[in-house]
Amino acid sequence: MKKSLILMGVISLSLLASPAIADNTEIRKYREMLFESVGNITKMIGNNLKGDAGTASDLIPLAEALNAHAQLVVPAFKTNTATDNGDSKANPKIWDNFDDFTKKAENFKSEAQNFLEIAKKNEINQKNFKQLTASCGSCHKAYKD
Ligand code: HEC
Repeated sequence: MKKSLILMGVISLSLLASPAIADNTEIRKYREMLFESVGNITKMIGNNLKGDAGTASDLIPLAEALNAHAQLVVPAFKTNTATDNGDSKANPKIWDNFDDFTKKAENFKSEAQNFLEIAKKNEINQKNFKQLTASCGSCHKAYKD
């Protein structure tokens, strides 16, 4: 009896302690991995367009990969980490202006979709790439430190 009371005490103490233990490290890491991938795919597209690497037909799977990643941006920010942001480059303003952040992410999605459509017609040029990366810049300017 005494033992189980002690055990219950230990369990309830650890339950009390758990919110403090559960920080947002994994969420921040996930977001960072997402954008590292977005950055790498975009750099690959840039190198490909300059003629440095790959072939013209690679632009379709690259654009598809970018489209897939674009779907993941808003869900990755669903948890508000403003008060536990570590050394994240995500500006806490994101969560005060989540509608606007979502709008910028939606714009990125539609630019990535547009880029894919043009890639499928084999008509991609530097101007299309600039238009695509402008959608990155407009979000970074407002929401990346
Ligand atoms: C809707 C907003 C948004 C869009 C669109 C967006 N980003 Fe970002 N990006 C961020 C935020 C916020 C961070 C910081 C994430 C973090 O540290 O948790 C970030 C981080 C990054 C990083 C890693 C950190 C750094 O400074 O190097 C890279 C690389 C990156 N983005 C590239 C891109 C590229 C390329 C595009 C477009 C193809 C893009 N992003 C589109 C918001 C956005």
